[in-house]
Amino acid sequence: MCGIIGYVGKKNAINILIQSLEALEYRGYDSAGIAYGTCNRIEIIKTSGKIKNLKNKINPDIHSNIGIGHTRWATHGRPNDLNAHPHKIGKFTIVHNGIIENSETLKKLLIKENYKFKSETDSEVIAGLLDKLYSEKNDILNVLKQLKKLLIGSYALGILCDDIPGTIYAVRKDSPLIIGISDEGNFIASDVPAILKYTKKYMLLRSNEIAEINDKITVYNEKLEPINKEILIFDGNLEDAEKNGFDPFMVKEIYEEPKVIKETITPLLKFGMESLNDSFPNFKKYNKIQIIGCGSAYHAGLIGKSLIEKYGDMPVSVEVASEFRYQKVFLDKKTLVILISQSGETADTMASLRKVKELNIDTLAIVNVLSSSIAREADNVVYTKAGPEISVATTKAYLAQITILSLIALDIAYCKKIINDEKANQIIKSFEDLSKIIKEMIEIDYQDIAKDLYKHQTCFYIGRGIDYALSMEGSLKLKEISYINSICYPAGELKHGTISLIEDGTPVIAVITDKKIADKTISNIKEVKSRGAFVILIINDNIKVETEVADKIIRIPTTNDFTQSIITAIPLQLIGYETAKLLGRDIDKPKNLAKSVTVE
Ligand code: AGP
Repeated sequence: MCGIIGYVGKKNAINILIQSLEALEYRGYDSAGIAYGTCNRIEIIKTSGKIKNLKNKINPDIHSNIGIGHTRWATHGRPNDLNAHPHKIGKFTIVHNGIIENSETLKKLLIKENYKFKSETDSEVIAGLLDKLYSEKNDILNVLKQLKKLLIGSYALGILCDDIPGTIYAVRKDSPLIIGISDEGNFIASDVPAILKYTKKYMLLRSNEIAEINDKITVYNEKLEPINKEILIFDGNLEDAEKNGFDPFMVKEIYEEPKVIKETITPLLKFGMESLNDSFPNFKKYNKIQIIGCGSAYHAGLIGKSLIEKYGDMPVSVEVASEFRYQKVFLDKKTLVILISQSGETADTMASLRKVKELNIDTLAIVNVLSSSIAREADNVVYTKAGPEISVATTKAYLAQITILSLIALDIAYCKKIINDEKANQIIKSFEDLSKIIKEMIEIDYQDIAKDLYKHQTCFYIGRGIDYALSMEGSLKLKEISYINSICYPAGELKHGTISLIEDGTPVIAVITDKKIADKTISNIKEVKSRGAFVILIINDNIKVETEVADKIIRIPTTNDFTQSIITAIPLQLIGYETAKLLGRDIDKPKNLAKSVTVE
């Protein structure tokens, strides 16, 4: 939900902090700030608004070799200068990503001891608590150990102490934090893109560890013993995390989709069904699948449900993680739970994973970010090879998610001998041909469709079965970046009430890829058209339909059920993008959103 960065080394920390915060801005961008060490004190500069507002407040002549920075997605307190991080109380300055659930209790205790608070945030309480603990015993490691015992909630913390200039301390629980390593200085960061400009070497800080960072890095375990840590090398490159001439990131990420599909399927299919089978758990152990995710990951799960039930002949339920984590669940050893998450850090999905693991149920994670929390804690993980996805609204990662789910359906069908070798090889070939078709779909101009949409406050998406699942994601894409109130309904459900909202000119986007129920959806299209709707139909080119059925028709290449959704997702993504572009929206950083929702 927020991005934190810290640097200590030979270079000017100010420039590094700002550049790194810009790389983290997709994690939250309603306020920002930095704290840096000068010869005898910590200076803080912070502001509401985006990083560019912060840059305007910074004197370019400032120089410091140590600092911490923060870009915020507000959870406690409005986005304003006072609530922006860093927060300093007494000797301690901190930046925080997460939510402290017992902050009000702690704040009351500190106020009784005459601590004063300027902000409405839970984070400022951490600075006050650190100062109190340190005033009782100026042993920083024990203070941090004590802090971790007192805080309830999630946190990734960058900490500066006036008495220990030149050193950054870091602790985390549930919120992500990495430690970057380079010859010219060391870093803490919420995510790899923040440090890629400077180094690819990093280590993961575990929840029970404390990091002390200056010209060297010391990580302590909960007994405060120094421990050795594995050094990881990021397997992408800076270009992956930069725009490379595209603008916004969403366009770059959509144009990367042919490559993403190729890179995602190649390791899975390099030896045909044999390597596919080796890449997944033994599905024959299970008679039911439970899929869990949030937002677009949930929508990807709905695609998986449709294909696995149809071809794998096994029941699949799909739940929103924020619901699942508090529900009574009926899982048993014959259930496989699949958790889908681009970031691998979504709090609700993480909590659902932990709930399932407590029940000793097998878990498989479909994740994009290497070594992220969900990837590390699930029993098995399959990576979407989408590379860093910076735009808050997912496109390439979602496409890779539905690709993997389609391959899971193929693997189950093959293992259960529902699909034979010949059919399986034909389907594998269609996956190998996908990148070329996706490239063609991306090249189509969707601007005229956007012109039909952008002046409307409301629009509808309708579809049946897998087309409803596709429409759900198409609707979210439009909604989250254009701010048009897009409503998605099962095509057959519209007449049970919501059709009352259809007026002259109301845009309705209908999706038909399933030939067997095409005529049913066409009837629904006629129902809304007869009430004045402006219908845009996205339909397979093997399904016959009179041109007057819809106001506009986008025909898409027909492949097979396993790859059709992947192709159909492209026009749905680009319609959302082109509409938001016409409206002049901040497409990569839509208002109120953040890329990784690491709080409940
Ligand atoms: C995607 O466009 C959305 N921004 C959002 O719904 C996202 O899919 C959801 O927050 C889940 O994130 P995750 O995949 O990183 O868990």
